[in-house]
Amino acid sequence: DRHRPLRGKHVLITAGPTHEPIDPVRYIANRSSGRQGFALAAAAAEAGAQVTLVAGPVHLSTPAGVIRVDVETALEMEKAVHDALPADIAIMVAAVADWRADSQSGQKIKKKGAAPEPLKLTENPDILAGLARHEQRPGLLIGFAAETQKIVQHAQAKLAKKGCDWIVANDVSGDVMGGANNSVQIITATGSENWEQLPKPEVARRLVAKIIEEIA
Ligand code: C5P
Repeated sequence: DRHRPLRGKHVLITAGPTHEPIDPVRYIANRSSGRQGFALAAAAAEAGAQVTLVAGPVHLSTPAGVIRVDVETALEMEKAVHDALPADIAIMVAAVADWRADSQSGQKIKKKGAAPEPLKLTENPDILAGLARHEQRPGLLIGFAAETQKIVQHAQAKLAKKGCDWIVANDVSGDVMGGANNSVQIITATGSENWEQLPKPEVARRLVAKIIEEIA
């Protein structure tokens, strides 16, 4: 089917930030808007894929034809990703919080007047790296990497460390986080491509076109 080249393929995408609660009213978060991941979900669905979009807390509407699973924390995102397997292609776009509070207070933590208690943190699981080692590893596994310097070097190191097939490195030194445009380099085992700055939906369409070429 020429107009629906991803027909019959299951594409699993994570998007947005995660929120890691500290107590009932406070959390650790980051500036991810989810826009690039949602644009990818839309582009994959337009290409005919069955799309599962695991979304952290974002203010975006669900693209047409996409199955969305809302999560809050990294641990919830990891479970939702595993529950969505098997997938032919996985694109991990989410800006997963690196750390969560060691323990969450059931009650709001009160000011005590004296010095505040330091926040104890625990590392979150790496969902992308875990998927690379999973017995149901998707055939094509793509990670993102937000970098501000030595983009290709850092992305190549990340490709090896995480065990994924491609890294889409975005230069976040400008207003990429939350912004409308993205400037990316695609790093694979065999080389790298440097794309001009493009609107996020256009980055998504080109990435989906590259995926279609890869699996054809
Ligand atoms: O290590 P870093 O956070 O730069 O890696 C970014 C890539 O790894 C992204 O694809 C992101 O979705 C994924 N990631 C993940 N789980 C984490 C941290 C990052 O899936 N805990």
